[in-house]
Amino acid sequence: MKILVIGQGGREHALVWKLAQCEGVEKVYCAPGNAGTAIDGENVNIQADDLGRLMSFAKHNEIDLTVVGPEAPLVAGITDEFRAHGLKIFGPSKAAARLEGSKSFCKEIMKKAGVPTAAYKTFKRFEEVEAYLESQDDGPLVVKADGLAAGKGVYVCRNHAQVLAAAELMLKRDLYGVAGRTIVIEECMDGPEVSILCIVDGDVIIPLETAQDHKRAHDGDRGPNTGGMGAYSPAPLVTEEIMDQIIRQILVPTVHTMRVEGNPFSGVLYAGLMLTKNGPKVLEYNVRFGDPEAQPVFMRLKSDLAQVLSLAASGRLCELESLEWDDRPTVCVVMAAEGYPEDYKKGLEISGLSEADDVPGAKVFHAGTTAKDMKVLTAGGRVLGVTAIGDNLAEAKANAYAAAEKISWQGSWYRTDISDKA
Ligand code: AMP
Ligand code: GLY
Repeated sequence: MKILVIGQGGREHALVWKLAQCEGVEKVYCAPGNAGTAIDGENVNIQADDLGRLMSFAKHNEIDLTVVGPEAPLVAGITDEFRAHGLKIFGPSKAAARLEGSKSFCKEIMKKAGVPTAAYKTFKRFEEVEAYLESQDDGPLVVKADGLAAGKGVYVCRNHAQVLAAAELMLKRDLYGVAGRTIVIEECMDGPEVSILCIVDGDVIIPLETAQDHKRAHDGDRGPNTGGMGAYSPAPLVTEEIMDQIIRQILVPTVHTMRVEGNPFSGVLYAGLMLTKNGPKVLEYNVRFGDPEAQPVFMRLKSDLAQVLSLAASGRLCELESLEWDDRPTVCVVMAAEGYPEDYKKGLEISGLSEADDVPGAKVFHAGTTAKDMKVLTAGGRVLGVTAIGDNLAEAKANAYAAAEKISWQGSWYRTDISDKA
């Protein structure tokens, strides 16, 4: 089997690494990939949004399965195009990817499904926001751009003045372009956050092992929001009882309603949840694997990922009995460029990569890297996801940090408390 992975981050390196180990997989390509995917697979110099060239590559190289990493090509409709040309691809249709691509669509589906989530209203005009706030008591609210805003576009506001400022940025100043011309204003919830991911094909739902992301830049969850500074698996916060509640009250009704509404969901359904005192509630849905959650989760997966994704892409997930997992925990520490999540330099030489890979139980997943003249250079803000397994969480953490310590470039840094929440 020949597989094409689309994307270039840490999640995609973890996908390439795992898929390349599966039985019957002869080759894994990654478009465009990074310096790590070039080692565990073979890079193809085509950008993730270049649909025409991706499709012609898949045809000419007789790719048996394409796996899409990031959300943007899914929301743009890559799976519909591939399928229309008889190519097998894992991921939701354009219509179903609106669960991530449009917050207002997502909210409507949850309302129809009776899924617990924050109460909300949708707005297109700034004056309507002003009028709405006048009718409400002052207090915290959350303002969200409707469309994809590259992880930005969510404002947790303490009072109405902040809500108006956020609404103005989007509705009057066009900060996110078309993505912010519709906004959702919702109730502000409180509680710890967890992500639950599952593989879905229309009506079969297979939950993955839990993982916990660390979204803030600095230790103790301080600093600005980022794409994710590290993750560990499993997340003990999600007890069997809570998981059962999440499946029954959230995942099943969502997947069912998507089908009933004519948008059957196939691919990864990623539920971002808040465990409130009134039970788990949905913050958002994503339609792809998490990054960096994929790195610690795939390291624990014992089942044949190529077979699982292939069955899901063919609508035959019901043939899969269950997933097999390594009981041992894993920890992923993201190493970032100086300045991230704001501006940062690229093109700095990274040293110590092979020494880090030699640490027992460790694997260095590349994210923002590129290879040049036998050197590995930084090429993004989140540069590496140093991931390790251990007999217990303390050992997994110690292994991940022992590996991270071997690596450096000018200005490299990482959080030192990944997995302490557990
Ligand atoms: P989202 O992209 O919708 O997951 O939002 C990003 C972050 O904003 C979440 O991880 C939460 O920390 C926060 N957030 C989003 N919606 C709410 C809400 N309704 N109440 C409280 N915090 C929220
Ligand atoms: N780690 C957060 C995300 O993948 O959206």
